[in-house]
Formats: sequence, structure tokens, C-alpha cells
Amino acid sequence: MADRKARLTVDGLDKTIEFPVYSGSMGPDVIDVRTLSAEGLFTHDPGFMATSSTESAITFIDGGKGVLLHRGYPIGQLAENSNFVELSYALLFGELPNDEEFNKFERTIRNHTMVHEQLANFFKGFRRDAHPMSILCGVVGGLAAFYHDHLDITKEEDRTISAIRLIAKMPTLASMCYKYNIGQPFNYPRNDLSYAENFLYMMFSNPCEEFKVNPVFAKAMDRIFMLHADHEQNASTSTVRLAGSTGANPFACISAGIAALWGPAHGGANEAVLNMLDEIGDESEENIQRFVDRAKDKSDPFKLMGFGHRVYRNFDPRAKVMKETCDEVLAELGMADDPQLKIAKRLEQIALEDEYFIERKLYPNVDFYSGIILKAIGIPTNMFTVVFAVSRTIGWISHWNEMISSNYKISRPRQLYTGHTERDYPAK
Ligand code: SDX
Repeated sequence: MADRKARLTVDGLDKTIEFPVYSGSMGPDVIDVRTLSAEGLFTHDPGFMATSSTESAITFIDGGKGVLLHRGYPIGQLAENSNFVELSYALLFGELPNDEEFNKFERTIRNHTMVHEQLANFFKGFRRDAHPMSILCGVVGGLAAFYHDHLDITKEEDRTISAIRLIAKMPTLASMCYKYNIGQPFNYPRNDLSYAENFLYMMFSNPCEEFKVNPVFAKAMDRIFMLHADHEQNASTSTVRLAGSTGANPFACISAGIAALWGPAHGGANEAVLNMLDEIGDESEENIQRFVDRAKDKSDPFKLMGFGHRVYRNFDPRAKVMKETCDEVLAELGMADDPQLKIAKRLEQIALEDEYFIERKLYPNVDFYSGIILKAIGIPTNMFTVVFAVSRTIGWISHWNEMISSNYKISRPRQLYTGHTERDYPAK
């Protein structure tokens, strides 16, 4: 029970309304305003600038200090010492696995990477040049058709197998989106490869030649998967939670998350960063400064993609690790002089010294450097957000599972109505 209270007085209301104040294990306290509607009032918070929508134990972000913890572990330590499958286990089940638990979990994932053969037919309905995110959204929603009748989300084992299926099948479906786009045959997953190796194998191997996964790329891919895995109540995770709060099929809920992630203000930013670097073109000082000035000009819709964040008012700790990975991968490839990397680094430097960005606490976010690595690995720009979705699936389904395993209510926000007051239908 909360012993601290918040008190609200409202002009015209002859009473003080009291609300309980709760503290979490870390981060800001929250004021529980649920009883406010009984007083005929709503809180109003478009864009959820100051709203806690749920209780969660999965990920903690301190935007002021640039801290990101997954089940208490700092993202920098995880990126250094862990791998995506181990992190996925921790996000889903709450603790890092011991060796036996890890081996069983990894084996189970490997054994679920294939998709129903009929699912391949779904792709034929799309134009060849359809954006891969539109295809992914459709086919993941289509998975619900294969896992619905016998699925009881009130049963833990059904929730767990749904999570395993999604974690395991997303790389397969993602690679199928790419192969469909380029007119090459789909590749079946292989059980002798790691998660990241398997994804790269399915993306780039073809029946005409022997294909070996570059270990540098596989390590970078696993790092990128880890850095995008989860991020608290971001827009797409909140979408999955809201859809899930109606009791909807979890595969359909993940499809809703994919749709939300696609936007350039969210996961679509990594694709938008590369398009922006393409648009900037040359690394001359005056040219880069011109784009920085455009980003500051309110009359110009141009924004520095990959910059800024709703929560981080300091550097995004993922961007720091991503930048190090970018340097490592490009150095390994002898591409340290990559022109787009040089433009990105110069852009970051100019922006971080510019009053406009300093005043608004705009720093590079997770999307600023990721695209440069993905491009170096050979992944086309329009597949960047698909890669983000493959990774974020573990975050989405962990939050879905946390909610469905708890006492939850359907999410149903209210509004400030500004339309017509009641009026009669005009007599004819
Ligand atoms: C992700 O929520 C998450 O956790 C998301 C994510 C995750 O892992 O799930 O971290 C992944 O989505 C990262 C963000 C990727 N998006 C981008 O890189 C797109 C560019 N960034 C902006 O669109 C923006 O910064 C947002 C959407 C990320 C945040 O928007 P907010 O919190 O609503 O902030 P805002 O738009 O109100 O900006 C505050 C000010 C405004 O100027 P003023 O009105 O105060 O004068 O900063 C300006 C904005 O115009 N601003 C920018 C800017 N971002 C904000 N100006 C130029 N370039 C930018 N990128």
C-alpha cells in the first residue's frame, strides 16, 4: 500500500483529491490517478510525455544518465559479454540462463526456425518491389492463421512456445522478404549455425555456390540484435501491449508492433539515416553544415535522422556501443575511410557542438550508426528496419508475456472531446 500521497485541488471543485504515490526499484515515482475518472476528470497527456502505462521488470532506462539495463544488466556489459540468444532468455524469463538452460533454449530455437511450407505462398501476393516491412507485417500477421485454434494464452506453456516460435521464425521470414524482393529462392534455415550466422546464411546464400558466413559480420549482427532487443515502453512495444490487452493472438500483436516500428520517427529511422547520408552526399564542411542548418530550420521538415530521443536527454548508450562496433567492422573490412561513416562522424561532431542540439539535448540514438554497419555487411537499406524488427521481437513478446501473465485490464484511454455538442439531425 502506498503511504505517500499526491493531492490535487481543482478550481471549482470544493475538495482535495488524494492519489497514492508508488516507488519502483529504480527511476521516477508514479502517481496512481486511476480514481480520477470517478471525480469526472481525466489526465491529459498526448504523446504520453509523462505517463507510466504499466509496471514492468524487464528494462530500465535513465534518460538523464544514458543508462539502459536489461533485467538489471547494463547494455554495455551485455554487448561485451553476452549474445542475443542468452539476452533473449533473460528478457523472457527474468534471469540469465545457466549452461544447461542456455543449451536447451538455443536448441529449441534452432528447432523452430522453419516456417510452414504454405507460408511461402503468402509472399506471392505482394509486388516484387514491395517494401520488406510491408511484407513482414503481412506474413507475421499470417502466422496467426497457423497458430490460433489450439493456442490458450492463459497457459504458460502456450505463451512460451509462441515466444519461441516468434524468436526462431523472424530471421527466416525476414530473409524471405529480402529473397522475394530480389527474385532469389528462399533459403531454409540450418541447425548447425548460430542465430546470427543462420540469418546471414538465409539472407546471402544461394543454390549456385558455396556460402560461408563471415565471422566478423556474424559477430556484428549478433551485437546489432542485442542492441535493438528491448527498450521499455517505446511506441511499438506499447502497441503490442495495447493489442495484447484485448486478448488478441500474440502473432497478430507482433504484426501490430512491426507496423508501429516502421515509422521513420521510430524504427524506420535507421533506413532514413542512410537515405539522409546519401542525400548529404559529399563530406565538405559547408555541405554538412547546410543540412545541420536545415535540421534547425522550423520551416524545413528535414530532421537529422538518428538524432534525438524521447527518453534519452543524454547520449543513447546503445549508440556508443554501435559506434564502436561500426569502427571495428569497417576497420576489419578495410573500410575505415567509408565516406558515409566520415559524413556521419562529422555530422555528429558539428551537431554536438551546435547550441540548437545542445539546448534540446539531441544526441545520436541507436539508429545513427547501425545502418552503416548493416550496409557494410551487405544488407540493403530497405531491410534495416526489418533487422530491427527481428531483434525487437524478443522485447515485444517478453512485454506481452509479462502483461498476460499478470492481472491486466484492456487498455482504453479517454480523450478531451472538442467536437460538436449534441445537435438534431436536420429535418428533410
Ligand atoms: C527509436 O522510444 C524509444 O525507445 C525508441 C527507440 C527504441 O529502441 O524503441 O529508442 C528507437 O525510435 C529511436 C529514435 C529514432 N528516430 C529518429 O532518429 C528520428 C529523428 N528524431 C526525432 O524525430 C525525435 O527526436 C524523436 C521522435 C526521436 C523524439 O521526438 P520527441 O521526444 O517528441 O521530441 P520533439 O519532437 O518534441 O523534439 C524536441 C525538440 C523540437 O524542437 P522545438 O519544438 O523544441 O524547437 O527537438 C527538435 C524538435 O523539433 N528535434 C529535432 C530532432 N529531434 C527533435 N530537430 C532536428 N533533428 C532531430 N532529429
